[in-house]
Amino acid sequence: MKKIVFSGVQPSGNLHLGNYIGAIRQWVKLQERENLELIFCIVDLHAITLPQDPKVLRQKNLELAALYLACGLDPSRSKIFIQSENPDHPYLAWIFDCITPFGWLKRMTQFKEKSEKQKEKASVGLFNYPALMAADILLYDTNLVPVGEDQVQHIELTRDIASRFNRLYGEVFVIPEALIEKKVARIMSLQDPLKKMSKSDPNPKSRIELLDDPDTIVLKIKRAVTDSGKEIVYDREKKPAISNLLSIYSELSGKSIDELERQYEGVGYAKFKEDLAEVIVEALRPIRERYFEFIKEKMFLEKVLDEGIEYAREKSSKKLARVKDLLGLSR
Ligand code: AMP
Ligand code: TRP
Repeated sequence: MKKIVFSGVQPSGNLHLGNYIGAIRQWVKLQERENLELIFCIVDLHAITLPQDPKVLRQKNLELAALYLACGLDPSRSKIFIQSENPDHPYLAWIFDCITPFGWLKRMTQFKEKSEKQKEKASVGLFNYPALMAADILLYDTNLVPVGEDQVQHIELTRDIASRFNRLYGEVFVIPEALIEKKVARIMSLQDPLKKMSKSDPNPKSRIELLDDPDTIVLKIKRAVTDSGKEIVYDREKKPAISNLLSIYSELSGKSIDELERQYEGVGYAKFKEDLAEVIVEALRPIRERYFEFIKEKMFLEKVLDEGIEYAREKSSKKLARVKDLLGLSR
């Protein structure tokens, strides 16, 4: 039996190195394993939990599809679809809303962070967000969910919701597991190495975006904060900024951290940063180039998304029918 892999990214903001190294690159690698069925979603219903400009959001959906392909997702191997095109997701999310204790959602740290500024004005959707994420995952009998570390709590909740449903109504849902690449599950901000690199950070210098041009990348790395002292050594506690830069360097170059420490022994930050910028530019160059090819191929993108949604609906409709029946939502 094939294992099923499901994951998604929100089409809000611009994808950055954290998204790539922490999530999408893992997805691409999974394509090499034969015994997996892979489904990747563009989660636009999650994006609207915070205000979005409709014109921009529409554009972002297609852009993200093009970026998925540019990063190496192969549509003959991975299904790609847009969440809002499958109404089974919000439908099942509503059912989950009704069986999920309020207290479970109240504990979610991402909600606490994202609602901090808005307080009581934060939307109910932002609060319910993890129930929709649980629906995304559970509709497809997902076994593995490759994500960055910030999503682990949501996957734990998904497991709890699935178990609770199974206990209350019968064994319907497969209990999924998070698939985390420990080393790289948290790429940090270039401006504050104690915060994760994030799409929503108001300072664009805090992140390298996948479509940044080479000059911008060089500038952002030059401006990246460093730690006191001159040594280039990996120590998350004492040297969080340099450790983060070393992680990025190591991930994109394939060189181990040890190797890099040796290479830069006695060499200053300036040279290290110069080389790192070069490594990032070269790693992102093919992605940028392929992106600009794909984004022109509107018909091709539409075809990929059409095939994806057809596949998704076919699977999810069966699951949802079973759930509705068990709940008595039928005549
Ligand atoms: P988001 O940008 O919140 O839609 O996240 C999309 C995916 O990227 C999720 O799997 C996140 O866990 C992952 N991700 C986001 N930011 C980072 C980061 N700074 N480091 C590692 N993974 C990340
Ligand atoms: N919440 C995830 C994020 O912000 C995105 C997401 C939505 C997701 N549904 C999902 C990830 C299902 C994995 C599986 O990154």
